[in-house]
Amino acid sequence: MSRSVKRVKGTLLLRDDRGSIKIAAKIIQSGGLVAFPTETVYGLGASAMNEKALRKIFTAKGRPPDNPLIVHLSSTKQLDSVARNIPREAYILASAFWPGPLSMVLPGADNLSPLVSAGLKTVAVRMPDQKAALSLIETSGVPIAAPSANLSGSPSPTTYRHVLDDLAGSIDAVIMSNSCTIGLESTVLDLSGPSPIILRPGGLPREDLEAVLGQKVLVSGSLYKPDSPSSPGMKYRHYTPRAPLILITGPRERRYRAVKTVFKHLTSKGYLVGLLNTQVHRRIACEADAEYLAANLYRALRQFDAEGVDLILAEETVSTGLGLAIMNRLRKAAVRIIKV
Ligand code: TXA
Ligand code: MG
Repeated sequence: MSRSVKRVKGTLLLRDDRGSIKIAAKIIQSGGLVAFPTETVYGLGASAMNEKALRKIFTAKGRPPDNPLIVHLSSTKQLDSVARNIPREAYILASAFWPGPLSMVLPGADNLSPLVSAGLKTVAVRMPDQKAALSLIETSGVPIAAPSANLSGSPSPTTYRHVLDDLAGSIDAVIMSNSCTIGLESTVLDLSGPSPIILRPGGLPREDLEAVLGQKVLVSGSLYKPDSPSSPGMKYRHYTPRAPLILITGPRERRYRAVKTVFKHLTSKGYLVGLLNTQVHRRIACEADAEYLAANLYRALRQFDAEGVDLILAEETVSTGLGLAIMNRLRKAAVRIIKV
């Protein structure tokens, strides 16, 4: 069968079809790196059982070695190969939310590579809700470790073009798709301690977890304190566009006036200002639509950079539902938070 092969700087572009998934699976099995779509963001996958391949992930992304990786599964049967002493809650949550945007932190299996867990005694696992992703894991026959497929520190990729912008030439292949419908990473829930705790708010709202568990679920208190992270990844400044982002918090009317004033002032001085989720110019979203904002946030941040924006203004949004994850990303992306 002849298949026209397209490459960008040596990175193979694969279609989202059966034949291409087989090629991608072969690359994973032979220790290579494949970027694949999930319902949250693109992942940069390697066999979770291959140390050499895992090391390549850290090199390609420029990822600090003490930041552990999420292991992606296509079946709950694979849980025992990476985790042990799995609590009952994990099975309850898996049956309610998998496949879906929930990563659960569980005690790690004894033979788990320290590169996956970054030396912790735990492992984060999730089953993505995306056909190509599930098919890739299944065809590869191994659990796939995958961080987001961006350079460390830049906004997570929600299309294959974003992946190529960051990683063309340093990964073997990318599966082309534009189906990261949620647009923000999974919720990371720690089930390895005495009570469930959210380490990273994400695509699965806290309220949904509480409804199924029948109890309050705490959000790690260290979310906004980089010096005492509960999840290693939380101490790094993530999600950052090149242009400085200023987040305006406070009551709606005052926020509105502040954004308007700052915007006018800066544009009169000749600066190019990107307005994110503000009522002043409904650039990409408005407060009421958290789903839309989540789905477009990273794309907008990357677009502002491509347009050469000097500064980005964003407004506080609600802290319920997806809003919790959006506010977490905005706070981490911000160089300054102004309370009005
Ligand atoms: O939606 C997602 O979760 C995407 C897609 C590709 O699945 N993946 C993703 O991976 O966002 P990454 O590596 O960018 O973020 C993983 C987060 C980091 O904050 C990391 O520190 C945390 O999960 N994490 C991973 N394993 C952990 C563990 N054993 N204990 C605590 N936190 C862990
Ligand atoms: Mg990431």
